[in-house]
Amino acid sequence: MANNIYLIGFMGVGKSAVASELQKKLSLPLIEMDQEIVDRQGMEISEIFAQHGEAFFRDLESDLIREISQGDGAIVSCGGGAVLRKENVDRMQQSGMVVLLTAEPETVLARVGNSTHRPLLEGKMNVDAIRALMEQRRPAYEDACQYFVPTDGKRPAEIADGIVILRELRGDA
Ligand code: S3P
Repeated sequence: MANNIYLIGFMGVGKSAVASELQKKLSLPLIEMDQEIVDRQGMEISEIFAQHGEAFFRDLESDLIREISQGDGAIVSCGGGAVLRKENVDRMQQSGMVVLLTAEPETVLARVGNSTHRPLLEGKMNVDAIRALMEQRRPAYEDACQYFVPTDGKRPAEIADGIVILRELRGDA
């Protein structure tokens, strides 16, 4: 049975924090896509973008999703742009549940404002730029997701509790 849990959504919506809570509750392996790519390449995300360009990074992302989707029972914290290619979305949907986490631009800014490894927000760490990119991405996120969870004002543990219930209702538990 293909029962991975894919957490998707914009940078700073809390995918990593929720994934880590899910791991505590479900004792399943956790794959942090960005970290996995950094470890395999031996370079930070911003270095990969700077030296090889975004398309190269997106290829690494697609390769990793292909690999993950062949396995089973993992919690996957996806990079914010992982849903930009339809092939990635198809693989996620065929191999598990796809949960979209959302947050207001103000919340995202508060969470990622000091980050140095979000090259797409470099020089654009403000609410207007975050809102604009979020709106541009909205159709891709909404098309990809099977479940939708707003995170503003909620603790990662309570969001994870909700996802555990959804998983049980799906019969994936
Ligand atoms: C990206 C999001 C980042 C990282 C890269 C590109 C995006 O991941 O993959 O900087 O295109 O939204 P997080 O969502 O984990 O910050």
